[in-house]
Formats: sequence, structure tokens, C-alpha cells
Amino acid sequence: MLHKLSLPIAAALLFAGCASLDAPLATTAPEPVAEITWPGAVSSADFRATAAGEEILAKGGSATDAAIAVMLALTVVEPQSSGIGGGGFLVRADSDSGEINTYDGRETAPAAATPTRFLDESGEYLPRESRVTSGLSVGVPGNLALAAYAHASHGRLPWADLFQPAIRLARDGFVMNRRLNDSLSSSKGRADKTDEARAIFFGPDGAPLPVGSLVKIPELAQSLADYAERGVEAFYQSDATSLAAYVADETPQDGKMSADDVRSYEAKERPAVCAPYRSYRICGMGPPSSGGIAVAQMLGQLERFDLTALGPDSITFWHLFLESQRLAYADRELYTGDSDFVEVPVAGLVDAAYLAERSALIDPAKALEEATPGTPPGAPANLADGNEPPENGTTHFSVVDAEGNAVSYTSTVEGAFGSGLFYRGFYLNNELTDFSLNPKVGGKLVANRVEGRKRPRSSMAPTIVFDADGEVVLVIGAAGGPTIPVQVARSIIGVVDFNLSAKDAVGLPLIMAFGSTVVIEEDSVLTEKQGALEALGHSNIRSFGPPLKANALLRTPDGWEVAMDPRIDPMLATD
Ligand code: DON
Repeated sequence: MLHKLSLPIAAALLFAGCASLDAPLATTAPEPVAEITWPGAVSSADFRATAAGEEILAKGGSATDAAIAVMLALTVVEPQSSGIGGGGFLVRADSDSGEINTYDGRETAPAAATPTRFLDESGEYLPRESRVTSGLSVGVPGNLALAAYAHASHGRLPWADLFQPAIRLARDGFVMNRRLNDSLSSSKGRADKTDEARAIFFGPDGAPLPVGSLVKIPELAQSLADYAERGVEAFYQSDATSLAAYVADETPQDGKMSADDVRSYEAKERPAVCAPYRSYRICGMGPPSSGGIAVAQMLGQLERFDLTALGPDSITFWHLFLESQRLAYADRELYTGDSDFVEVPVAGLVDAAYLAERSALIDPAKALEEATPGTPPGAPANLADGNEPPENGTTHFSVVDAEGNAVSYTSTVEGAFGSGLFYRGFYLNNELTDFSLNPKVGGKLVANRVEGRKRPRSSMAPTIVFDADGEVVLVIGAAGGPTIPVQVARSIIGVVDFNLSAKDAVGLPLIMAFGSTVVIEEDSVLTEKQGALEALGHSNIRSFGPPLKANALLRTPDGWEVAMDPRIDPMLATD
């Protein structure tokens, strides 16, 4: 099946494809010039990465092949958000069988990590910077293992082919856009922590290279060529000693990464979390991510309300959505973590009867005084709430191939530029900060406490939505730490209940409840509704500019709509 793309999108892809095919580098996208067709569709947060995926699809690659090429290209052009120094989750739907596979490439803690990793001797949190920009926060990267695992089952092109667009971008250079430039400025101290990274992204005056500059990362081009040629063993075996030694050197206390931690890393296939929403079926990632469960819970709890009748301008809708979030996140804090270490009652948390019971707590006229966790079927006893602070270094991309196979992949280094540690041309994650800082509260263990070889809980929610006929209709995910499941649920509601385009759905404003605090996206239409929300009992309302970023593909009668978050679109300018 060939999917026709809209003119501006096709033009952007043409332009992006040119840039990655060794043509002279332009700094702005040209006007739409032609209508073209592609054997599939790609949505990512950077048009050069989208072009990498398109190139692989055009060569006959599968959605999995193209998604891997996008992940690799983003390592180059969006180093603030993701890369092979980090991890991710990949959800795939098979067009023939309808089978859904979910793959876990989440980082792991070193075997020597203990539950008090982020606490000092008196039990106080270590200072933030020593937690987030040292080897303490670096988990064994999972993206390359995830890519190899998924490629072994669903790849069509040779492994090395998937690396070529990223190698070209790193070797020949790419143009610094406003987003990367801004991110480098606001992450000084982290992005420029090492001499190597400073020499690549910053000028002699110490300021980030100006927007429009050509950035080359020759060392990354070489690393990618090595992993392309020798396979992931080149990373997980050959690099194990030097990677672990570097991270260990940067780790100021016990619990250091060892070469064995790197060598024994494994990507894993996990059971998908699927739940009905109206006539649709929503499938996503289970533990160690909390994303799929949270999306299913928020939607399940809202199903009894006629959201279409309310519409996106209604304060009642946003109130109901907030209440559903509060209930879902209360469960998330208590019950979710790495299911290889703790019992996560996944089936109980998305059980229809349980969600109906939780939904009954929602009053359309009044906010709950307190949203406490429920007791889903199979709930373990004696757990305490955990917490982890939000950061901003993640990216999502969606791919559909010529056969209609779909891949939804969220990739991350956790905070912007991860830990700031820079190895063989790429940043290393600081994902271990997603563990709860406190291992125990009130004598009870926290499910998401640090443990050796454990994977920290994630919020990432790569999601695929099927219609009543079992056809994939929406391939979606987002970046933004704990806001991710909220962005995904809100966008699904936008498409399913409000009948919006994917672009308008991901462009809906964000409102999020963190416990009893409500945050409203600044400069959005919701800021005018603060008084009305207060009247419904939501106190402690603040506004903030969250690190939002959703990407989606939506099936339409005319082909796949490729949607990028309108919030970041202008930030991709290179002039
Ligand atoms: O896995 C997680 O939930 C976080 N490490 C994601 C961080 C993130 O999305 C930052 N975003 N922009």
C-alpha cells in the first residue's frame, strides 16, 4: 500500500531527504514543489531523522528497519533528547496477524547499585547535580540492544544499511537548529561537561555554535560505522571495559558500573498492555514503563462520560481529565516498577471492573479532596509511594511501512544531554534518576527503589490504537517525563472523541495533576480557565512550560497524516 502524504509534508521530506543524500545543505525548507508518494510514513521530532526513516522505507525496509534508522539519526541531530547512549521502548503491530510485540530497551542499574544510591550517610538526598551529572545516574544503555532484538525478528534490510543515514549526518554534518542551540544554552554545565562535546557543539567563546552552523561529529560517525559493521557486540562486548571504566571513574562513590554490567545487558520482549476504549483497542508498553497502564487507566476511567458532547472547550472535560489523571497517577506511584523485581498487578490495574469502580469516584461537579491509590485485583500489600523528578531529554517517533506494519518507539537519555558524559561521540543517559530517591517510606518499601540490575520505572508510552476492525489507526507517543501518558491520553481523546486531526490532537493544551497541584501549560487557552477550575475545587494551580513533544501518524481516508507537535515546529528553524 502506498500512502500519499500531504504537500507540505512531502516537501519537507524531499528537502530532508536531499540533506541526507549528500546534496548541498540548505538552511530552510523550500516551498512545496510536488506531490509525491512514499511506501509508508514516518513522524519524528526532526525532519532529518524523518528523512532517514523515509530513505530506509524507500529502499524496501520494514517499519522496524526505518524506526531503527530514525533512532540512530536522532542520536546525531537531536543529542539533547535521545540516542544510543540511552534506552527506549518499541511497540510494533503486525499488519497481517494483528499481533502486537513490545520491546524493552530500558537502561539497567549496575549490579553493585543499592537502594540508598541517591542518599547521603544521613539519609538526605545527594545534591541534585551530583546525582544527575555523574556516573551515579548512568544506566547501561539499551537502545542498540533493543534495535538488534527487534531487527532480528522484524528487520528486512541488512543491519548495516540502517546506520548509513546517521553516519552521513555525523560525518558530513547537519545544520544547528534553534532547538538544539537553545537546549545547549540552557544545559551549560552538562552539554559542555567534557572537552570532546565542547569542541563539537560550542565555539571558542564557550557559547553554543550559532543557529545555521554546520555541526560534524566525526567520532560518532566512526562509532556508528563500527556498530554497523560489527553488530551490537562491538558495543556490548568490545566497548564494555572502556565504557564501564569511564562511567566508574565519574562515579563518586560505591555502586560503580562494571564491564560485566555492560556485557550482560539484554533487551527484553514484554507482554503488551492492551485495553479497550470505546470501539477502539489501545496497546502500549508495560513494566518497567508505567506508560501503557496509565494511558489505559485514564481512558478507561473516562469512558462512561460523553466527552464528544463536552468537547475540548468545556471546563467539565478538563476537570474530568484531571480527576482521571489523579486516580491513575496515585496507582502509578504505588504499584509500578520493574516487574522483574517487584510484583506489578498489571492486569488488575487495567481491569474493566476495577476502572469502573475507580471512575465512580469522579464527580463532574467537584474535585476529589485526595486521590489515593486503589486496590486492584492482585495488588501486593505493604508498598509505599515513590517519586522521581521530571526532566527533559526524550523523543518519540512513529513509522508505518508499505505493508501497514506499525512501530511506535520512544527513545530517551532522560535529562537534556543525559548525564553530560560523552563516550565515543554520544551522550550517556542519566536514566537512573528515574528511580525513586527514597527506597522506603514509613517503613514500607517503594516498588521503584534502586536495586542492582533493575530498570528504573519509566513514563514512556509508545502506543498503537486499533479500530473495531483491528486496523491500526493511530501510532503515537510523546516526550516529557511524567506528562507523557497524559499527552498520549489527551491526544487519543482528541482523535477518538473530538474527531480532530492528529496535528490538532497533539496540539491540544496540556493540563496535569501532580497530586493536588495542577499545572496548566503557560500561554495556552487553559490559562483562562483557572478560575473555573478553582471553582470546581482544584487549588494550587500553577502554570509552566512543560517539555512537551508528541509525534503521531493517523490513518485517514487519504493516507497517513504525519503529525508533529506544533509546539516544537518553529524551533526546528535553522536560520
Ligand atoms: O522514562 C522516562 O519516563 C523519562 N526518562 C523520560 C524523560 C523525558 O521524557 C524527558 N522529556 N522530555
